[in-house]
Amino acid sequence: MKPLIEIKGVRHAYQTDAGPLPVLDGLEIAVPEGGFSAVVGPSGCGKSTLTRLIAGLMKPDAGEVWLHGKRVRGPRATVGMAFQNPVLLEWRSILKNVLLPLEIVPTKLNRKQAEERARFLLSLVGLEGFEDKRPSELSGGMRQRASLCRALIHQPDVLILDEPFGALDAFTREDLWMTMHELKAREPFTGVLITHDLRESIFLADQVVVLSGRPARTQYLLDVPKSGPRSLDDLYTPEAAEQLNILRHQIQIAQGRAAPEPEAAA
Ligand SMILES: Nc1ncnc2c1ncn2[C@@H]1O[C@H](COP(=O)(O)OP(=O)(O)OP(=O)(O)O)[C@@H](O)[C@H]1O
Ligand SMILES: [Mg+2]
Repeated sequence: MKPLIEIKGVRHAYQTDAGPLPVLDGLEIAVPEGGFSAVVGPSGCGKSTLTRLIAGLMKPDAGEVWLHGKRVRGPRATVGMAFQNPVLLEWRSILKNVLLPLEIVPTKLNRKQAEERARFLLSLVGLEGFEDKRPSELSGGMRQRASLCRALIHQPDVLILDEPFGALDAFTREDLWMTMHELKAREPFTGVLITHDLRESIFLADQVVVLSGRPARTQYLLDVPKSGPRSLDDLYTPEAAEQLNILRHQIQIAQGRAAPEPEAAA
């Protein structure tokens, strides 16, 4: 089956005062329909750049991005995004913040259906009863939950998450991981998760893509079996420890702190 998200030989450089800064150098990533891929790599290697290319907010210098069998040539309404710092509008209630994308992208939902969907998503992430609150009345974790609902309100094919849990404390983050599993079970999106947290990557994703240092290429792919960690206890099994060791080693290679294996270097 053709992947729903395809990144084919993508190269990109930013033009800076000091000359071109090559950021991505021949990325290859494929995410099947319903799949969830985590992307990890050294800081500054080009992960957020990759999310902008998938969303069609930028065009690559070379290579192609395909979503659902169509080449991406501009912003797509079928993409939902959430970031490390959820930008919620303080003058709108949580419910109205979640509904915001529907004022921008076309929707088949009428007002009542849209509101029902927003309330449903908020209840899925444990925010029932907070619909009429303002963002400042919520904790950081609750605001991030609301921003996940906003990213999903228009039933996007593709959900792109750029370090969505990076600013949260460890316990809140783990709560949100469980929420993500619940959302994945209910909503039929295909996802890309950028993260610095290797435990998060194997907990949430079925494939982990390790990027090399800048300019980034696809350095390593780890398939997480369907039987992989799905409850927090599973992160402490020998299998999870082995996956984390592999990823930690690959990150060290990407950072230039460990030598690649001879066969990987060939
Ligand atoms: N608009 C821009 N113009 C020039 N350079 C940029 C621009 N955006 C990003 N960069 C540079 O491109 C490189 C990759 O940036 P990017 O934000 O994609 O990295 P990242 O992997 O997301 O980093 P982090 O893990 O810290 O979030 C960095 O060196 C950054 O300074
Ligand atoms: Mg980034």
